[in-house]
Amino acid sequence: MRQITIVGTGYVGLVSGGGISEFGHEVTCTDMDQDKIKRLNSGEIPIYEPGLESLVKRNVAKGRLHFSSDVPQAIHNSNIIFIAVGTPQGSNREADLGAVEAVAKTIGKNLNSYKIVCTKSTVPIGTGKRIEDIIYSVNPEADFDYVSNPEFLREGSAVKDFMHPDRVVIGTRTTKSLNAMREVYRPLYINETPIISTSVETAEMIKYAANAYLALKISYINEIANLCEAVGADVHEVARAMGLDGRISPKFLHPGPGFGGSCFPKDTHALAAIGRNSDSPLPTIEAAIKTNESQKRRMVTKLKRLMKNDIKGKSVAVLGLAFKPQTDDVREAASRVIIPKLVESGATVCAYDPIAMDNFKNHHPDIQYRDSWQDAVNGADACIILTEWNEFRGIDLNKLKSLMNKPAILDTKNILSIEKLESLGFTFDNVGRKKSE
Ligand SMILES: NC(=O)c1ccc[n+]([C@@H]2O[C@H](COP(=O)([O-])OP(=O)(O)OC[C@H]3O[C@@H](n4cnc5c(N)ncnc54)[C@H](O)[C@@H]3O)[C@@H](O)[C@H]2O)c1
Repeated sequence: MRQITIVGTGYVGLVSGGGISEFGHEVTCTDMDQDKIKRLNSGEIPIYEPGLESLVKRNVAKGRLHFSSDVPQAIHNSNIIFIAVGTPQGSNREADLGAVEAVAKTIGKNLNSYKIVCTKSTVPIGTGKRIEDIIYSVNPEADFDYVSNPEFLREGSAVKDFMHPDRVVIGTRTTKSLNAMREVYRPLYINETPIISTSVETAEMIKYAANAYLALKISYINEIANLCEAVGADVHEVARAMGLDGRISPKFLHPGPGFGGSCFPKDTHALAAIGRNSDSPLPTIEAAIKTNESQKRRMVTKLKRLMKNDIKGKSVAVLGLAFKPQTDDVREAASRVIIPKLVESGATVCAYDPIAMDNFKNHHPDIQYRDSWQDAVNGADACIILTEWNEFRGIDLNKLKSLMNKPAILDTKNILSIEKLESLGFTFDNVGRKKSE
C-alpha cells in the first residue's frame, strides 16, 4: 500500500483519488478550494460523474480516501504526490502552467524525505524538466523522482475509464520510480492493461498526440458532413461504412456542432503552439482548430436559415448545454459560442439541460432557463439540440410539435428520426443529412 497525495481535486483529481483508493492505496485528495474540500468532507460530491459518488463514499467508509486543504501536511505524509491541477488555455493560447508551477513550489518546500512527484495534468513537453527545476530552486537538497503519468479518462465515463483504461502511460527517469508506479497500478494487471513505460518527454507527447488526433478526426467528419450536405450524401451512412474499416474505427466519427470540453480545444491549441515554438508546425492541427471554430458558427447560420432569417424577437429553445452527455461540464461547449450569437441576433433563448444548467448559469445568467424540455420548447419559434442526452433521443415529437409555436428544429447531434420529422411536417435541419425542403 502506498500513501498518496493528489493535489487538485477536480474531474481528474477526484476520479483518480477514488480509483487509486479503490486499488487499495491510502489517498488524500487536496485542493486550494476550501469550500470544495468542506463539501467533500461532508459527503457531497461537487461534480456530476456517473459512478463517482459510490466510488468515493465506499473508499471514504473503508478509511482509504481522505480530503484536506492542508496541502503541505498531505505532502509530508505521502510517498507519491500526483499533480492534477488545471492547465487552462493561457492568453497566448499556450497552456497556462501557473497552477502547476505553484504546486511544484509547494512540493519543493515540503519535501521532507524521498518522494515521487507525478504529473497527471496535461502539460506541454518539457514541463517535467521545469517542475524538477522549480523543486530544486526552492529546495536544492530535494530527494525525489519525477514521473509523467498523463490521464486519458473521459468526462461522462471517467470512473469506468479510470478503472478500465486502454493503457497506462508512465514516463520515468529511474527504475525505482517506474517500479513504484507499477505498484500503484498493480490491480490493473488482472485486466492485462498495457503499461507503457517511456521517457518523461515521450509520455508528455503521447497525451497531446492522442487528444489532437481525436480532435482531428472530429473536424474531419464535420468537414465530410458539410460536403455531404452540398452534394446530397448522408454522412451517417458514410461514417458507418468508413468506421467498419478496421484501419479507421467508428469512434469519433460523429458529426456535430464542433468539439468542446475542457481538453480538446485547449490541447489542440497548446500542441499547435508547441509546434510553432519548436519550429515544427502542425498545419493539420491548425486546420482542425479552424474547422471546429467555423463549425460552431455554421450552426448559427443554419438555425437562422431554418427560421428564414426571422430571428429577432423570436423565441429559441436550446436543448443541451453540456459539451457532451453525462457531464455537468460546460467548458468550451458549443452552447457557449452558439447561445451568445443567438442572443446577439435578438432571439430570446430558453434553455434546458438535465444536469449542466447551474454551471451554465454562472457564465450566462442573462438567458432563460427551464426545468424540462417541455417547458423550454413551449411557445418556441425554433428549437436547437446541442447535447445528445438520452432524454432528447427519446423525445416525443408529437408533443414537441404541439408545444412549439412553429415546428422548426435544428438537430446538431443527428439524434432524431428524419422520417418522423418529415411525416409530422417539421421544418428541420441537421449535420450532414437530408433536411426539409
Ligand atoms: N477533465 C478531463 O476530462 C481531463 C481528462 C484528462 C486530462 N485532463 C487534464 O487534467 C488536468 C485537470 O483537469 P480537470 O478537468 O480535473 O480540472 P479541474 O478544473 O476540474 O480541477 C482542477 C482543480 O485543481 C485545483 N487547484 C488549482 N490550483 C491549485 C493549487 N495551487 N493547489 C491545490 N489545488 C489547486 C482547483 O481548485 C480545482 O479543483 C488538466 O491538465 C486537464 O487537461 C482532464
